[in-house]
Amino acid sequence: MPNVNLQNKLKKTAHILNKYLPLISQSDLAVISGSEINHKWITGLMKLDRDDLVRFDAQREHTLLNDPEWLELVDDIEDLSRFRKVEVNEIELKTFGNVKKQHELKQLYFFMSEDSGKSVADFGGGVGNLAYFLEGELEMKVTVLEKDLALIDKGKKKLSKMNSQVLFNHCHVCSNSSTANLENIEVAVGLHTCGNFATDMFRTCMENKIQKIINLGCCYSKIKDDDYNLSVHSDKSISFNERALSSAIQSFNKVPVEFYKYRERIMKFKLSFHHWLFSEHSHLAFCSMSNARKSLYENSFGDYVQICLSKFFTEIMVPDKKNVELFYQSERNTYLNEYFSAFYALRRYLGKLVEIYILCDRALFLEENGYSVDIVEVFNPAISPRCNAIVATKI
Ligand SMILES: C[S@@+](CC[C@H](N)C(=O)[O-])C[C@H]1O[C@@H](n2cnc3c(N)ncnc32)[C@H](O)[C@@H]1O
Repeated sequence: MPNVNLQNKLKKTAHILNKYLPLISQSDLAVISGSEINHKWITGLMKLDRDDLVRFDAQREHTLLNDPEWLELVDDIEDLSRFRKVEVNEIELKTFGNVKKQHELKQLYFFMSEDSGKSVADFGGGVGNLAYFLEGELEMKVTVLEKDLALIDKGKKKLSKMNSQVLFNHCHVCSNSSTANLENIEVAVGLHTCGNFATDMFRTCMENKIQKIINLGCCYSKIKDDDYNLSVHSDKSISFNERALSSAIQSFNKVPVEFYKYRERIMKFKLSFHHWLFSEHSHLAFCSMSNARKSLYENSFGDYVQICLSKFFTEIMVPDKKNVELFYQSERNTYLNEYFSAFYALRRYLGKLVEIYILCDRALFLEENGYSVDIVEVFNPAISPRCNAIVATKI
């Protein structure tokens, strides 16, 4: 039986995306260089006082933007993002890792219990944490497929001390020439398969006629070669740029106000730095500073610029700190920061549509290749945001 519900979700999501995609596709550099999108919702959010903007964004009080079109859209997004939830009971389990990992393992225990005792391939299984858990709690015979040899070596060392029978297979799963050995494998699981790894996993499983596939994707911004619009029900006219894809990997839940403020400070510093580079040096290119430590953002903006220049732009002369502080407070920079705060807040609602679209498209692609499919909310999105699993069983 085709999953009509997923087909309808895909079609409706495509319809909405066609209207609002420009709002999530806009690059920060386009805004900095003066060609920003003007939209009534951005203007509306910029008019909110600061406390209300924090409530709108961090506490997801979306009705603070009181526009009928917006309210209807958020209702639609909530409706589209509703999937069947996995049922769990209270039970003592030997989980490990941080809070997120422990939660994921516990949920997967219930989700995968109907397959206990089966042989499983864990795609991108890293050091074998999930594999060890499935072996111990669900008596599964697990093979980890992993491309990173260092992780395999570490995992082998660790698990051999624990008397584990988990096997490790060093391989790079790809869509055409996979070295994965899937003989006798009944179930394939892929937890947080980034970018194209998810679709490469599907193709490998289809080729090897794997009975059951469980997949949770992540890092959609790493999708290369436009590897979406796979289903016949997809809208081939939809094209996601990297910006749109990255909007799908955010958390779409409430966050503590303290976290919001920290995140906002990072955003303001980074974007003001790029704005300064553009204004003072006509430099308009994105420079990733993602590995920066938290303490970097405890500096004044003047110090921050000096540190960034000495790290990433040694050819640029270090400016006078006072002038940089004045630049930060300038009318144009203040306007840009307010614009970005509003724009990012909107993206944290709209990005969900991109994720729903990709998930439904992937699931229906499997259906069209001989599987019965569903999407199930396995994790609590507040703990593990990439919470929806595609489940496909060979017909
Ligand atoms: C985001 S991590 C997830 C690890 C683990 N499944 C988890 O959830 O904690 C993705 C893992 O997949 C591995 N990986 C990515 N692409 C792969 C490929 N094409 N073939 C095999 N392994 C891959 C990476 O090396 C990494 O260990």
